[in-house]
Amino acid sequence: MGAESWIQIVYVLSALCFILALNWLSAVPTARRGVLTGVLGMALAVGGTLLNPGIVSYTWIAVAFVIGSVIGVPMAMMPMTAVPQRTALSHAFGALAAALVGTAEYFLRAGGAEMDRFTMGALAVEVILGFLTFTASLMAFGKLQEILPQRPITYRGQNLVNLGMPAAAVALAVWLVIHPGSHGLFLLMCGLALGFGVLLIVPIGGADMPTVISLLNAYAGLSAAAMGFVLNNKLLIIAGSLDGSSGLILSIIMCKAMNRSFSNVLFGAFGQVTAAVAAGEQKSYRSASAEEAASILLNASSVMVVPGYGMAAAQAQHKVRELYDQLTRQGVNVKFAIHPVAGRMPGHMNVLLAEANIPYDALLDLEEANSELPQCDVALVIGANDVTNPAARHDKGSPIYGMPIIDTDKARTVMVIKRSMNPGFAGVDNELYTLDRTLMLFGDAKAFVADLIKEVDAQSGGRG
Ligand code: TAP
Repeated sequence: MGAESWIQIVYVLSALCFILALNWLSAVPTARRGVLTGVLGMALAVGGTLLNPGIVSYTWIAVAFVIGSVIGVPMAMMPMTAVPQRTALSHAFGALAAALVGTAEYFLRAGGAEMDRFTMGALAVEVILGFLTFTASLMAFGKLQEILPQRPITYRGQNLVNLGMPAAAVALAVWLVIHPGSHGLFLLMCGLALGFGVLLIVPIGGADMPTVISLLNAYAGLSAAAMGFVLNNKLLIIAGSLDGSSGLILSIIMCKAMNRSFSNVLFGAFGQVTAAVAAGEQKSYRSASAEEAASILLNASSVMVVPGYGMAAAQAQHKVRELYDQLTRQGVNVKFAIHPVAGRMPGHMNVLLAEANIPYDALLDLEEANSELPQCDVALVIGANDVTNPAARHDKGSPIYGMPIIDTDKARTVMVIKRSMNPGFAGVDNELYTLDRTLMLFGDAKAFVADLIKEVDAQSGGRG
Protein backbone atom coordinates (compact mmCIF):
# COMPACT_ATOMS: atom_id res chain seq x y z
CA MET A 1 0.00 0.00 0.00
CA GLY A 2 1.40 3.41 -1.00
CA ALA A 3 1.86 6.46 1.21
CA GLU A 4 -1.29 8.07 -0.25
CA SER A 5 -3.50 5.16 0.89
CA TRP A 6 -1.99 5.28 4.39
CA ILE A 7 -2.63 9.01 4.55
CA GLN A 8 -6.30 8.51 3.60
CA ILE A 9 -6.72 5.78 6.25
CA VAL A 10 -5.17 8.02 8.91
CA TYR A 11 -7.43 10.90 7.78
CA VAL A 12 -10.57 8.74 8.09
CA LEU A 13 -9.53 7.72 11.63
CA SER A 14 -8.82 11.35 12.47
CA ALA A 15 -12.25 12.48 11.16
CA LEU A 16 -13.86 9.72 13.23
CA CYS A 17 -12.05 11.00 16.33
CA PHE A 18 -13.31 14.56 15.70
CA ILE A 19 -16.91 13.40 15.35
CA LEU A 20 -16.72 11.23 18.49
CA ALA A 21 -15.00 14.09 20.35
CA LEU A 22 -17.85 16.49 19.56
CA ASN A 23 -20.39 13.88 20.60
CA TRP A 24 -18.66 13.18 23.93
CA LEU A 25 -18.02 16.86 24.60
CA SER A 26 -21.74 17.53 24.64
CA ALA A 27 -22.29 15.74 27.99
CA VAL A 28 -20.48 16.52 31.23
CA PRO A 29 -19.65 12.90 32.25
CA THR A 30 -17.99 12.15 28.87
CA ALA A 31 -16.39 15.58 28.27
CA ARG A 32 -12.87 14.57 29.39
CA ARG A 33 -12.95 11.62 27.00
CA GLY A 34 -14.13 14.02 24.29
CA VAL A 35 -11.14 16.33 24.81
CA LEU A 36 -8.65 13.45 24.70
CA THR A 37 -10.26 12.02 21.56
CA GLY A 38 -10.09 15.45 19.90
CA VAL A 39 -6.38 15.66 20.76
CA LEU A 40 -5.83 12.17 19.30
CA GLY A 41 -7.73 13.20 16.13
CA MET A 42 -5.51 16.27 15.69
CA ALA A 43 -2.33 14.25 16.33
CA LEU A 44 -3.42 11.75 13.65
CA ALA A 45 -4.24 14.59 11.23
CA VAL A 46 -0.81 16.19 11.69
CA GLY A 47 0.96 12.80 11.58
CA GLY A 48 -0.91 11.78 8.40
CA THR A 49 -0.02 15.05 6.71
CA LEU A 50 3.67 14.58 7.58
CA LEU A 51 3.61 11.27 5.66
CA ASN A 52 2.92 13.21 2.46
CA PRO A 53 5.70 12.38 -0.05
CA GLY A 54 5.31 15.84 -1.60
CA ILE A 55 6.75 17.59 1.50
CA VAL A 56 9.73 19.68 0.36
CA SER A 57 11.44 20.51 3.67
CA TYR A 58 10.92 18.95 7.10
CA THR A 59 13.36 21.49 8.54
CA TRP A 60 11.00 24.41 7.90
CA ILE A 61 8.10 22.43 9.36
CA ALA A 62 10.20 21.80 12.49
CA VAL A 63 11.02 25.52 12.75
CA ALA A 64 7.30 26.41 12.44
CA PHE A 65 6.47 23.74 15.03
CA VAL A 66 8.93 25.25 17.54
CA ILE A 67 7.66 28.82 16.94
CA GLY A 68 4.05 27.64 17.26
CA SER A 69 4.78 25.80 20.50
CA VAL A 70 6.64 28.78 22.00
CA ILE A 71 3.54 30.93 21.38
CA GLY A 72 0.95 28.21 22.08
CA VAL A 73 2.15 26.83 25.42
CA PRO A 74 2.03 30.16 27.36
CA MET A 75 -1.34 30.88 25.71
CA ALA A 76 -2.70 27.62 27.12
CA MET A 77 -1.58 28.70 30.63
CA MET A 78 -3.90 31.74 30.65
CA PRO A 79 -6.46 31.64 33.48
CA MET A 80 -9.87 30.15 32.76
CA THR A 81 -11.53 33.58 32.96
CA ALA A 82 -9.41 34.69 29.97
CA VAL A 83 -10.57 31.81 27.76
CA PRO A 84 -12.73 34.00 25.45
CA GLN A 85 -9.78 36.24 24.46
CA ARG A 86 -7.45 33.24 24.20
CA THR A 87 -9.95 31.57 21.88
CA ALA A 88 -10.13 34.77 19.81
CA LEU A 89 -6.33 34.67 19.36
CA SER A 90 -6.45 31.00 18.31
CA HIS A 91 -9.09 31.82 15.71
CA ALA A 92 -6.99 34.73 14.46
CA PHE A 93 -3.97 32.46 13.89
CA GLY A 94 -6.03 29.63 12.36
CA ALA A 95 -7.83 31.97 9.99
CA LEU A 96 -4.59 33.72 9.01
CA ALA A 97 -3.03 30.35 8.18
CA ALA A 98 -6.00 29.43 5.93
CA ALA A 99 -5.95 32.84 4.21
CA LEU A 100 -2.18 32.70 3.60
CA VAL A 101 -2.38 29.15 2.20
CA GLY A 102 -5.14 30.38 -0.15
CA THR A 103 -3.05 33.37 -1.24
CA ALA A 104 0.01 31.18 -1.84
CA GLU A 105 -2.08 28.70 -3.87
CA TYR A 106 -3.48 31.56 -5.96
CA PHE A 107 -0.07 32.88 -6.94
CA LEU A 108 1.53 29.40 -7.28
CA ARG A 109 -1.02 28.05 -9.71
CA ALA A 110 0.28 29.98 -12.69
CA GLY A 111 -0.83 33.26 -11.19
CA GLY A 112 -4.36 31.99 -10.95
CA ALA A 113 -4.96 32.19 -14.72
CA GLU A 114 -5.26 28.42 -15.10
CA MET A 115 -7.41 27.81 -12.09
CA ASP A 116 -10.79 26.19 -12.77
CA ARG A 117 -13.87 28.11 -11.69
CA PHE A 118 -14.88 25.86 -8.81
CA THR A 119 -11.40 25.98 -7.26
CA MET A 120 -11.19 29.75 -7.73
CA GLY A 121 -14.61 30.14 -6.05
CA ALA A 122 -13.53 27.98 -3.09
CA LEU A 123 -10.25 29.88 -2.86
CA ALA A 124 -12.05 33.24 -2.80
CA VAL A 125 -14.31 32.01 0.05
CA GLU A 126 -11.21 30.76 1.89
CA VAL A 127 -9.27 34.03 1.71
CA ILE A 128 -12.26 36.35 2.33
CA LEU A 129 -13.38 34.42 5.43
CA GLY A 130 -9.79 33.83 6.53
CA PHE A 131 -8.62 37.44 6.34
CA LEU A 132 -11.80 38.93 7.83
CA THR A 133 -11.71 36.42 10.69
CA PHE A 134 -8.06 37.28 11.30
CA THR A 135 -8.57 41.01 11.84
CA ALA A 136 -11.99 40.60 13.49
CA SER A 137 -10.56 38.09 15.99
CA LEU A 138 -7.63 40.39 16.79
CA MET A 139 -10.09 43.23 17.40
CA ALA A 140 -12.23 40.95 19.60
CA PHE A 141 -9.12 39.97 21.55
CA GLY A 142 -8.20 43.66 21.98
CA LYS A 143 -11.66 44.53 23.29
CA LEU A 144 -11.86 41.61 25.72
CA GLN A 145 -8.32 42.22 26.99
CA GLU A 146 -9.27 45.90 27.35
CA ILE A 147 -6.41 46.99 25.08
CA LEU A 148 -9.14 48.59 22.94
CA PRO A 149 -12.21 50.39 24.33
CA GLN A 150 -14.96 47.85 25.18
CA ARG A 151 -17.82 50.20 24.33
CA PRO A 152 -19.40 49.95 20.89
CA ILE A 153 -18.30 52.72 18.52
CA THR A 154 -20.90 53.87 16.01
CA TYR A 155 -20.83 56.46 13.22
CA ARG A 156 -23.22 57.64 10.51
CA GLY A 157 -23.59 55.25 7.59
CA GLN A 158 -21.93 52.42 9.55
CA ASN A 159 -24.35 49.72 8.47
CA LEU A 160 -23.96 50.86 4.85
CA VAL A 161 -20.16 50.51 5.09
CA ASN A 162 -20.49 47.18 6.91
CA LEU A 163 -22.76 45.79 4.21
CA GLY A 164 -20.97 47.50 1.30
CA MET A 165 -17.47 46.17 2.04
CA PRO A 166 -18.32 42.45 2.08
CA ALA A 167 -20.62 42.99 -0.93
CA ALA A 168 -17.70 44.55 -2.84
CA ALA A 169 -15.40 41.68 -1.81
CA VAL A 170 -17.99 39.12 -3.00
CA ALA A 171 -18.40 41.01 -6.31
CA LEU A 172 -14.62 40.86 -6.81
CA ALA A 173 -14.69 37.13 -5.99
CA VAL A 174 -17.33 36.58 -8.71
CA TRP A 175 -15.18 38.57 -11.17
CA LEU A 176 -12.13 36.46 -10.26
CA VAL A 177 -14.05 33.23 -10.82
CA ILE A 178 -14.60 34.40 -14.40
CA HIS A 179 -11.17 36.08 -14.86
CA PRO A 180 -8.84 34.38 -12.35
CA GLY A 181 -5.69 36.13 -13.60
CA SER A 182 -6.57 39.61 -12.24
CA HIS A 183 -3.84 39.79 -9.58
CA GLY A 184 -4.53 43.37 -8.53
CA LEU A 185 -8.21 42.63 -7.95
CA PHE A 186 -7.28 39.56 -5.90
CA LEU A 187 -5.15 41.73 -3.61
CA LEU A 188 -7.94 44.33 -3.41
CA MET A 189 -10.36 41.56 -2.37
CA CYS A 190 -7.93 40.50 0.39
CA GLY A 191 -7.60 44.13 1.54
CA LEU A 192 -11.39 44.57 1.69
CA ALA A 193 -11.72 41.40 3.79
CA LEU A 194 -9.00 42.59 6.20
CA GLY A 195 -10.62 46.02 6.54
CA PHE A 196 -14.09 44.56 6.95
CA GLY A 197 -12.87 42.39 9.84
CA VAL A 198 -11.86 45.52 11.75
CA LEU A 199 -15.03 47.47 10.99
CA LEU A 200 -17.26 44.48 11.82
CA ILE A 201 -16.13 44.52 15.46
CA VAL A 202 -16.03 48.32 15.99
CA PRO A 203 -19.79 48.67 16.74
CA ILE A 204 -19.99 45.57 18.95
CA GLY A 205 -19.78 46.01 22.74
CA GLY A 206 -17.69 43.84 25.06
CA ALA A 207 -20.81 42.07 26.41
CA ASP A 208 -21.56 40.54 23.02
CA MET A 209 -17.97 39.63 22.25
CA PRO A 210 -18.08 35.95 23.38
CA THR A 211 -21.02 35.38 21.00
CA VAL A 212 -19.12 37.08 18.18
CA ILE A 213 -16.06 34.95 18.92
CA SER A 214 -18.18 31.86 18.54
CA LEU A 215 -19.42 33.22 15.19
CA LEU A 216 -15.80 33.90 14.14
CA ASN A 217 -15.07 30.28 15.09
CA ALA A 218 -17.68 29.29 12.49
CA TYR A 219 -16.07 31.58 9.85
CA ALA A 220 -12.59 30.15 10.54
CA GLY A 221 -14.01 26.62 10.19
CA LEU A 222 -15.74 27.43 6.91
CA SER A 223 -12.52 29.01 5.62
CA ALA A 224 -10.67 25.78 6.44
CA ALA A 225 -13.40 23.71 4.73
CA ALA A 226 -13.05 25.89 1.58
CA MET A 227 -9.27 25.34 1.82
CA GLY A 228 -10.02 21.59 1.78
CA PHE A 229 -11.71 22.01 -1.61
CA VAL A 230 -8.79 24.07 -2.95
CA LEU A 231 -6.16 21.53 -1.78
CA ASN A 232 -8.42 18.53 -2.42
CA ASN A 233 -7.97 17.49 1.21
CA LYS A 234 -11.00 15.60 2.56
CA LEU A 235 -9.97 15.87 6.20
CA LEU A 236 -9.88 19.66 6.00
CA ILE A 237 -13.35 19.63 4.46
CA ILE A 238 -14.74 17.43 7.26
CA ALA A 239 -12.92 19.15 10.15
CA GLY A 240 -13.67 22.63 8.78
CA SER A 241 -17.36 21.80 8.34
CA LEU A 242 -17.57 20.40 11.89
CA ASP A 243 -15.86 23.53 13.20
CA GLY A 244 -18.07 25.82 11.12
CA SER A 245 -21.35 24.16 12.07
CA SER A 246 -20.52 23.75 15.77
CA GLY A 247 -19.46 27.43 15.98
CA LEU A 248 -22.73 28.47 14.39
CA ILE A 249 -24.82 26.23 16.68
CA LEU A 250 -22.97 27.57 19.72
CA SER A 251 -23.59 31.18 18.64
CA ILE A 252 -27.31 30.40 18.25
CA ILE A 253 -27.44 28.76 21.71
CA MET A 254 -25.67 31.78 23.26
CA CYS A 255 -27.95 34.27 21.49
CA LYS A 256 -31.01 32.32 22.67
CA ALA A 257 -29.73 32.16 26.26
CA MET A 258 -29.25 35.94 26.21
CA ASN A 259 -32.43 36.54 24.19
CA ARG A 260 -30.50 38.34 21.45
CA SER A 261 -30.85 37.95 17.71
CA PHE A 262 -27.81 37.69 15.43
CA SER A 263 -28.54 41.01 13.74
CA ASN A 264 -28.96 42.55 17.20
CA VAL A 265 -25.54 41.25 18.24
CA LEU A 266 -23.86 42.44 15.03
CA PHE A 267 -25.54 45.84 14.74
CA GLY A 268 -27.13 46.40 18.18
CA ALA A 269 -24.46 48.47 19.99
CA PHE A 270 -25.47 46.72 23.26
CA GLY A 271 -23.04 48.52 25.57
CA GLN A 272 -24.47 51.98 24.91
CA VAL A 273 -27.91 51.18 26.30
CA THR A 274 -26.20 49.49 29.20
CA ALA A 275 -24.28 52.59 30.25
CA ALA A 276 -27.48 54.66 30.36
CA VAL A 277 -29.28 52.12 32.53
CA ALA A 278 -26.33 51.75 34.90
CA ALA A 279 -26.73 55.37 35.92
CA GLY A 280 -29.98 54.58 37.84
CA GLU A 281 -30.54 55.55 41.52
CA GLN A 282 -29.45 53.28 44.42
CA LYS A 283 -32.09 51.52 46.59
CA SER A 284 -31.61 50.15 50.11
CA TYR A 285 -30.54 46.60 50.84
CA ARG A 286 -29.82 44.33 53.83
CA SER A 287 -26.52 42.63 54.50
CA ALA A 288 -25.54 39.78 56.85
CA SER A 289 -22.41 38.26 58.36
CA ALA A 290 -21.00 34.80 57.72
CA GLU A 291 -22.27 33.75 61.16
CA GLU A 292 -25.88 34.72 60.34
CA ALA A 293 -25.66 33.19 56.87
CA ALA A 294 -24.31 29.88 58.24
CA SER A 295 -27.19 29.67 60.69
CA ILE A 296 -29.73 30.22 57.88
CA LEU A 297 -28.06 27.51 55.79
CA LEU A 298 -28.06 25.03 58.66
CA ASN A 299 -31.75 25.62 59.30
CA ALA A 300 -32.68 25.06 55.66
CA SER A 301 -33.75 21.73 54.26
CA SER A 302 -33.05 22.68 50.63
CA VAL A 303 -30.41 25.07 49.24
CA MET A 304 -29.93 26.04 45.60
CA VAL A 305 -26.44 27.36 44.86
CA VAL A 306 -26.35 29.74 41.88
CA PRO A 307 -22.74 30.17 40.72
CA GLY A 308 -21.60 32.91 38.32
CA TYR A 309 -18.60 34.76 37.01
CA GLY A 310 -17.51 35.87 40.52
CA MET A 311 -17.05 32.25 41.63
CA ALA A 312 -14.76 31.74 38.62
CA ALA A 313 -12.85 34.99 39.22
CA ALA A 314 -12.30 34.09 42.89
CA GLN A 315 -11.50 30.43 42.04
CA ALA A 316 -13.92 29.51 44.81
CA GLN A 317 -15.11 26.18 43.38
CA HIS A 318 -13.09 23.98 45.76
CA LYS A 319 -14.33 25.89 48.81
CA VAL A 320 -17.86 25.60 47.40
CA ARG A 321 -17.35 21.85 47.23
CA GLU A 322 -16.32 21.82 50.92
CA LEU A 323 -19.44 23.75 51.85
CA TYR A 324 -21.54 21.37 49.75
CA ASP A 325 -20.05 18.38 51.61
CA GLN A 326 -20.61 20.00 54.99
CA LEU A 327 -24.24 20.92 54.38
CA THR A 328 -25.01 17.56 52.78
CA ARG A 329 -23.61 15.83 55.87
CA GLN A 330 -25.98 17.97 57.95
CA GLY A 331 -28.93 16.61 55.93
CA VAL A 332 -29.41 19.73 53.79
CA ASN A 333 -30.36 18.98 50.18
CA VAL A 334 -27.93 21.10 48.11
CA LYS A 335 -28.22 21.55 44.35
CA PHE A 336 -26.63 23.85 41.79
CA ALA A 337 -28.51 25.95 39.23
CA ILE A 338 -26.48 26.35 36.03
CA HIS A 339 -27.39 29.17 33.68
CA PRO A 340 -26.14 28.55 30.11
CA VAL A 341 -24.31 31.92 29.95
CA ALA A 342 -23.20 32.21 33.59
CA GLY A 343 -19.52 33.16 33.63
CA ARG A 344 -17.69 34.15 30.50
CA MET A 345 -17.80 31.13 28.23
CA PRO A 346 -20.23 28.34 27.45
CA GLY A 347 -20.08 25.58 30.04
CA HIS A 348 -17.91 27.75 32.34
CA MET A 349 -19.72 26.73 35.54
CA ASN A 350 -19.91 23.04 34.56
CA VAL A 351 -16.15 22.96 33.99
CA LEU A 352 -15.35 24.59 37.34
CA LEU A 353 -17.76 22.48 39.36
CA ALA A 354 -16.58 19.30 37.62
CA GLU A 355 -12.99 20.33 38.48
CA ALA A 356 -14.07 20.45 42.14
CA ASN A 357 -15.69 16.99 41.77
CA ILE A 358 -19.22 18.14 42.53
CA PRO A 359 -21.49 15.22 41.55
CA TYR A 360 -23.04 15.73 38.10
CA ASP A 361 -26.50 14.84 39.34
CA ALA A 362 -26.42 17.83 41.73
CA LEU A 363 -26.21 20.19 38.71
CA LEU A 364 -29.56 21.38 37.38
CA ASP A 365 -30.10 23.22 34.12
CA LEU A 366 -32.12 26.43 33.93
CA GLU A 367 -35.57 24.82 33.53
CA GLU A 368 -35.03 22.15 36.21
CA ALA A 369 -33.70 24.73 38.66
CA ASN A 370 -36.59 27.11 38.02
CA SER A 371 -39.13 24.39 38.66
CA GLU A 372 -37.50 23.64 42.06
CA LEU A 373 -36.70 27.18 43.24
CA PRO A 374 -40.21 28.10 44.51
CA GLN A 375 -39.95 25.17 46.98
CA CYS A 376 -36.36 26.02 47.99
CA ASP A 377 -35.58 27.43 51.44
CA VAL A 378 -32.43 29.27 50.38
CA ALA A 379 -30.95 30.41 47.09
CA LEU A 380 -27.23 31.02 47.66
CA VAL A 381 -25.90 33.16 44.80
CA ILE A 382 -22.10 32.99 44.51
CA GLY A 383 -20.72 35.70 42.22
CA ALA A 384 -23.65 35.58 39.80
CA ASN A 385 -25.43 38.77 38.86
CA ASP A 386 -27.05 39.29 35.42
CA VAL A 387 -28.30 35.70 35.22
CA THR A 388 -30.38 36.28 38.39
CA ASN A 389 -31.78 39.75 37.61
CA PRO A 390 -35.61 39.69 37.74
CA ALA A 391 -35.66 42.84 35.54
CA ALA A 392 -35.04 40.50 32.60
CA ARG A 393 -38.61 39.18 33.10
CA HIS A 394 -40.54 42.46 33.20
CA ASP A 395 -38.47 45.60 32.53
CA LYS A 396 -38.82 46.28 28.81
CA GLY A 397 -36.29 49.11 29.08
CA SER A 398 -33.54 46.84 30.41
CA PRO A 399 -30.87 45.68 27.96
CA ILE A 400 -31.23 42.17 29.38
CA TYR A 401 -35.05 42.16 28.97
CA GLY A 402 -36.19 38.74 27.70
CA MET A 403 -33.01 36.91 28.72
CA PRO A 404 -34.06 33.70 30.51
CA ILE A 405 -32.89 33.95 34.14
CA ILE A 406 -32.58 31.69 37.17
CA ASP A 407 -35.66 32.54 39.26
CA THR A 408 -33.59 33.03 42.39
CA ASP A 409 -36.10 35.58 43.74
CA LYS A 410 -38.70 32.80 44.09
CA ALA A 411 -36.77 31.02 46.86
CA ARG A 412 -37.86 31.76 50.46
CA THR A 413 -34.54 33.44 51.33
CA VAL A 414 -31.92 34.72 48.96
CA MET A 415 -28.28 35.23 49.96
CA VAL A 416 -25.83 36.84 47.54
CA ILE A 417 -22.04 36.63 47.89
CA LYS A 418 -20.25 39.43 46.01
CA ARG A 419 -17.84 42.20 46.89
CA SER A 420 -20.02 45.27 46.36
CA MET A 421 -23.29 46.52 44.88
CA ASN A 422 -21.56 46.98 41.52
CA PRO A 423 -23.32 45.69 38.42
CA GLY A 424 -22.22 42.63 36.43
CA PHE A 425 -21.23 42.21 32.79
CA ALA A 426 -24.31 43.90 31.30
CA GLY A 427 -23.74 46.94 33.52
CA VAL A 428 -27.26 47.05 35.01
CA ASP A 429 -28.38 47.19 38.65
CA ASN A 430 -29.88 43.95 39.97
CA GLU A 431 -33.37 44.20 41.52
CA LEU A 432 -32.73 40.96 43.40
CA TYR A 433 -30.38 42.72 45.83
CA THR A 434 -33.01 45.13 47.12
CA LEU A 435 -35.79 42.60 47.73
CA ASP A 436 -37.00 42.12 51.33
CA ARG A 437 -36.04 38.44 51.26
CA THR A 438 -32.48 39.12 50.08
CA LEU A 439 -29.37 39.33 52.26
CA MET A 440 -26.13 40.60 50.77
CA LEU A 441 -23.00 38.76 51.93
CA PHE A 442 -20.18 41.12 51.02
CA GLY A 443 -16.72 39.72 50.31
CA ASP A 444 -14.56 37.82 47.90
CA ALA A 445 -16.36 34.57 47.00
CA LYS A 446 -13.51 32.27 48.08
CA ALA A 447 -12.84 34.09 51.35
CA PHE A 448 -16.55 34.36 52.24
CA VAL A 449 -17.28 30.70 51.51
CA ALA A 450 -14.24 29.80 53.66
CA ASP A 451 -15.77 31.87 56.50
CA LEU A 452 -19.10 30.12 55.98
CA ILE A 453 -17.38 26.73 56.26
CA LYS A 454 -15.81 27.76 59.59
CA GLU A 455 -19.14 29.04 60.91
CA VAL A 456 -21.09 25.97 59.78
CA ASP A 457 -18.48 23.86 61.51
CA ALA A 458 -18.67 25.87 64.71
CA GLN A 459 -22.46 25.99 64.76
CA SER A 460 -22.87 22.29 64.10
CA GLY A 461 -20.57 21.53 67.03
CA GLY A 462 -17.61 20.45 64.88
CA ARG A 463 -19.71 17.81 63.12
CA GLY A 464 -19.82 19.86 59.87
P1 TAP B 1 -21.96 38.86 35.94
O1 TAP B 1 -23.31 39.39 35.63
O2 TAP B 1 -20.84 39.31 35.09
O3 TAP B 1 -21.67 39.21 37.48
C1 TAP B 1 -20.59 38.67 38.13
C2 TAP B 1 -20.55 39.26 39.51
O4 TAP B 1 -19.49 38.62 40.20
C3 TAP B 1 -20.26 40.74 39.52
O5 TAP B 1 -21.42 41.48 39.77
C4 TAP B 1 -19.18 40.92 40.60
O6 TAP B 1 -19.67 41.78 41.63
C5 TAP B 1 -19.02 39.51 41.16
N1 TAP B 1 -17.62 39.20 41.41
C6 TAP B 1 -16.54 39.43 40.63
N2 TAP B 1 -15.42 39.00 41.21
C7 TAP B 1 -15.80 38.48 42.41
C8 TAP B 1 -15.09 37.88 43.48
N3 TAP B 1 -13.77 37.73 43.46
N4 TAP B 1 -15.81 37.45 44.53
C9 TAP B 1 -17.14 37.61 44.58
N5 TAP B 1 -17.86 38.17 43.61
C10 TAP B 1 -17.19 38.61 42.53
O7 TAP B 1 -21.92 37.27 35.93
P2 TAP B 1 -23.03 36.19 35.60
O8 TAP B 1 -24.23 36.36 36.46
O9 TAP B 1 -22.29 34.90 35.62
O10 TAP B 1 -23.50 36.53 34.14
C11 TAP B 1 -22.67 36.38 33.00
C12 TAP B 1 -22.76 37.61 32.13
O11 TAP B 1 -21.81 37.47 31.06
C13 TAP B 1 -24.14 37.75 31.49
O12 TAP B 1 -24.42 39.11 31.28
C14 TAP B 1 -23.94 37.06 30.18
O13 TAP B 1 -24.86 37.45 29.18
C15 TAP B 1 -22.53 37.52 29.85
N6 TAP B 1 -21.97 36.64 28.84
C16 TAP B 1 -21.69 35.36 29.17
C17 TAP B 1 -21.27 34.51 28.18
C18 TAP B 1 -21.05 33.07 28.47
S1 TAP B 1 -21.03 32.09 27.24
N7 TAP B 1 -20.93 32.63 29.69
C19 TAP B 1 -21.08 34.96 26.90
C20 TAP B 1 -21.34 36.31 26.64
C21 TAP B 1 -21.78 37.13 27.63
P3 TAP B 1 -18.65 42.58 42.57
O14 TAP B 1 -17.77 43.35 41.65
O15 TAP B 1 -19.53 43.41 43.42
O16 TAP B 1 -17.90 41.55 43.34
